[in-house]
Order: sequence, then C-alpha cells, then structure tokens
Amino acid sequence: MCGIMGYVGPGDAAPVVVDGLRRLEYRGYDSAGIAVLSDGAIKVAKAAGKLARLEELLEIAPVSGSVGIGHTRWATHGPPNDLNAHPHTDPSGRFVVVHNGIIENFHELRTELTAAGQTFTSDTDTEILVHLVALEYDGDLADAVRKAVARARGAYALVVMTAEEPDKIVAVRKTSPMVIGIGENETFLASDIPAVLHRTRRFKLIEDGEMVIITQAGAVIETIDGDPVDRDELVVDWDPGQAERGGYDHFMLKEIHEQPNAISETLQGRLETDGDVVLDGVDLTDEFVDNLPAVWLTACGTAYHAALVGKRLLERTLAVPVMIEYAHELRYSDPRILPGSLMIAVSQSGETADTLAAARLAKQKGARLMAITNVVGSSLAREADDVLYTRAGPEIAVASTKAYLTQLIALHLLALHLGQRRGTVDLELAIQLESNLAELPTAAQRVLEMEEQVIESAQTLADNFDNGVDDVYFIGRDLDYAVATEGSLKLKEISYLHSEAMPAGELKHGTLALITEGMPVIVVLTQTHVYEKTLSALQEVKARGAHVTAVVYEDDELIAEFADVVLRIPRVADLIAPVLAIIPLQLLAYHSARILGHDIDQPRNLAKSVTVE
Ligand code: F6R
Repeated sequence: MCGIMGYVGPGDAAPVVVDGLRRLEYRGYDSAGIAVLSDGAIKVAKAAGKLARLEELLEIAPVSGSVGIGHTRWATHGPPNDLNAHPHTDPSGRFVVVHNGIIENFHELRTELTAAGQTFTSDTDTEILVHLVALEYDGDLADAVRKAVARARGAYALVVMTAEEPDKIVAVRKTSPMVIGIGENETFLASDIPAVLHRTRRFKLIEDGEMVIITQAGAVIETIDGDPVDRDELVVDWDPGQAERGGYDHFMLKEIHEQPNAISETLQGRLETDGDVVLDGVDLTDEFVDNLPAVWLTACGTAYHAALVGKRLLERTLAVPVMIEYAHELRYSDPRILPGSLMIAVSQSGETADTLAAARLAKQKGARLMAITNVVGSSLAREADDVLYTRAGPEIAVASTKAYLTQLIALHLLALHLGQRRGTVDLELAIQLESNLAELPTAAQRVLEMEEQVIESAQTLADNFDNGVDDVYFIGRDLDYAVATEGSLKLKEISYLHSEAMPAGELKHGTLALITEGMPVIVVLTQTHVYEKTLSALQEVKARGAHVTAVVYEDDELIAEFADVVLRIPRVADLIAPVLAIIPLQLLAYHSARILGHDIDQPRNLAKSVTVE
C-alpha cells in the first residue's frame, strides 16, 4: 500500500517528508520519491528500491524548499523502476502529483490524451492525473484538481503542488486514507497518523469525497463540490507503542480493524463496471482455462482454511473437480495431479517451507502454479506462473486476520474470473456476487461495530476456563464449517483454550459424548441450504446444556430460541458470508485472550513465518 507525505512550513520540507516516508515504511513499497518547491521551480528526486537509495540520491544532489510532497509506491500499473516511481510531473514541469490508489479508466483517458498530442514518460495511471490537472489549470489549483478528478474513476488519495501557487498543497480523498497534521505555523498531510505523530498531536481526518488545501497557516477542508466542511480537531495522545499500533492495544486488533480497508485494496481495479474481473498478474490462456481437468489448492494453517472456502467457491463456479490438501501432507503423498491442472498455493508470507515444497511438486507433475500471497517478490511469487497479490499490507500479529480475509477476496475474484471465462458461472449469481463484493468494506465495518456481544461470549469462555473447563467446539456445515475451522484455530492459538471445529453432521459420530452442561459451542449458520440441518445439531447440543454462541444473518428470527449469545452479520449472498462471519470469531479469539491475559501478538511457541519443515 502506497504511503503519502506532504509538508508546508518554515523549515526545509525535504528532510521532513523523507522522515515521514520512513515512518510509513511498514505499509510496504518498492520505490520512493519526493518533490519540493524551490525558487519558483519544482525539484524531484525519486528511485526504485528502498528509501536508502533515495537518500543516496539526495546526498549527491540535495533539494530543499518549504513546500514538499513525497511517496512510497507499491507497484500496480507498471514495474517498480525509477520512471514509474512517484512524484510525477506534467510536461511543463510546473505541476507535480503523488497518488495512492488506482484510476480505473486509465486506458480510456490515456488513449484520449495521447490522441490529443500528450506524451507520457511512465506506465502509471498517476501520470494521467497530473496531465489532466495541468490542462485544466486556469489560475486556481483547487479548481483544476476538482475538474481533473471529475474525469477519473477509481480510488485515490491525490496530492498536488504547482509552481504557479507555491504556498500550498491541494489534496483529494476518495477511498484511500489521508490525514492532516496541524503544527505551529506548519501543516502536514500523511496516509496515516504515525507518520507525523512525533511532530504534532493535533489532527483532522479527511473523509471520502473531500478536498483539502494546506498552507503554513493551516488546512481548509471542502467537499469535492466546493462546499465548506467544518471538521473538529482530534488530539491524539498515544504513547510510542500505541502510535506504532495505530492507537490500538495490540497489532491483532489493529489488523482486525484494518480489514474493511484491506478488502478495498484487494478489490481495487479488479472489479470492472461492466461485470468483468481483471486480474493483474494472472496470465492464463483461453485454451488452458477451457480444458482444465482439475483445480488443486494447497496451504497450511489459516491459509489452508481460506483455501477450504476457495474449494467450495471454485467447485460451484468452475464445474471442475477441486481438490485440497495440506501442503505438508501433499508433499509426501503421491497425488494424482494431472498435467494441465491448476495448482493454487495460498500463503500470506509466500515463504512457508511446506507450501513451497508442495507447489514445486505440483509443477513437476505438470500443473500450472498460481500463488495467492501477500508478499511481493516472495519465494512462492517468484516460482509461480501466475500471482494474485492479496494487498493486505504487512501483518505483524502472529495470528493472521486481514491476510486471511483478503485471501478469501482473492479467491472470490479468481472464481468469478475463471467462471466467467469458462461460461460456467451463472450470470445472475455473478452479478449478485460482484455487487456484494463491492459492498463488503462497508458491511465489514458494520460487523466490527458489534464488539459488545462478542465480549459477552468471550467472558463466558474465560469464566469457564476459571472453572476448569477449557474446551470449545465450533460447528457449521459447508462454507460455515470452513469458517468454523478458522474461528477455532484463531481461538486456540492466542487464548490457549482447547478448541475443535467439525462439520455439524459429525458431532453425533463421537464428539457429542463431550458436550456437557455449560460446554461452549460456537455455531456458524449462514448457509441457507443447510440451515435446518445445522439447527438440528444445535438442538442436540442445547439439549445437553451447551452454552451456544451463534453467528447468523442480522434478519435471522429463529435463532434467539436456540442460542445464548447471537452475533449478527449483514445479509449477503451465502457464498460471500464467510468474509463477514469470520470477523466476530476473530474478535472472540482476541477478547478471550485479552480477558485471560495472554500475549496476543506473540503467542507462545508460534512464529509468523514457518520457513523450516
Ligand atoms: C495462524 C497463521 C498460520 C499461517 C500458516 C501459513 O494465524 O497465521 O496458521 O497461516 O503458518 O503461513 P503462510 O500463510 O505464510 O504460508
């Protein structure tokens, strides 16, 4: 995820901006650059690679000025090289921009501008924006930016400077986050509060669809249509540890709350308005897609649980057999992988030794290897024929949350993309799924707001533990079972409670013997076609005195009769439900571990990346 910095003040902007970029490094990037206004001219320094390379350049050819912008880029349009690094200037060199996000009608605009005689020096969608701003400029930068963004579709945090008005920076926000920092006689812009928290504690948040004009005297916020906005200041009193965690007590909680934004990032530029799904990095021929004999999925741990959801999605949308195997099992088995199959290896880190070994085995057997991973340039990404990046941003907590959720989104996009190409996805379903996917960031945000009921359930688990009961059972059927497996793993890894997930139909084949008075049972109940079946299993555990927590749709009227605690999620297509249903279970794990007083971000015996067998 790209990072943005901006500064207007009495001091030299260059070191302030570079320092801010360094504090945004955690977002991940592959090139960096700054631009400053100096003696009525714009000076740019930028380089592929880490900030150290930019600093080397600045040492050889220093730039300075009292207004500056900067950017760390995570490549989307075009490779990570010096030319594609931000900032980008217009041909006159009098306008300069940095941008976070994706301009969806990039090709259309570029073709139009090229036909009108404009020339471009990079492959980026961002360069289009600076051309548009320069072309629209008629003495008022804010007005030119307004007209330029009116022509662009997509998501952006856009920051613009011009040598014509050397006392200000103009920025607009649509989807991609940005904040204003207010100092003494100086004003900052940044993607995130921690970038400037050591310089000021006074902030104003920029909302979607707003424009801000910053000068040394402060910030003026307007709607994109030019109406004034009155925004209260936010005084942030985080200590340094909290600042690093964005104000949250733990990285895990921060990452759970980052999920709505992470979903937007994963979707960005991939869902076209005409219903197509465009997957950068996936390069399958029609012949391969049409003749697929089978799809395989392999992974470990949480990534395996995402793959379990993927199996069901791909089965329904591709009408081919879809096999799934733990990577550590697959690598030592003799799998019948047919040449021409697609092997999808799912791995947050892209470095898990077992997943890499299983992926290599599949390639040896003639499968095409696709990686679903979060880490650009990871070993898995390098070895794969196709890569679908999840764009969750760095995940620090050992217990994976946002990486899992974005793996689900990536699998949805893939299922829709391949299903449409094969002609096997029902059009009505495709339209429903696409509109549900687009609404997921808002729906996920709503789920995050129900922490109170989750805490009630977590308290029961903690009280049980104090009374000597440290078992929990998770049940569900079909996709609800897949969600239950991940809910159970989350709980056990950080709360250290013994937890088991099983298909609801499996209970009476043995485990029911362990259900006694007060035993916690968590049930996921979103799949309409098996709802009643799961309800029967629920009645069986309830009859034996279990304490039931149920995850259901918000309009479920039946459940109150069977459950002690009800966690409700917005209604979506059943295939999409896992994305929302896992969120209360992540929170349940988090709050149980918190109440029990465990080390949430670094659970005992576990490592973030398992690079040995
Ligand atoms: C649990 C967790 C692990 C990982 C597993 C695979 O919260 O994070 O179960 O999912 O070790 O790691 P990756 O996805 O990096 O291959």
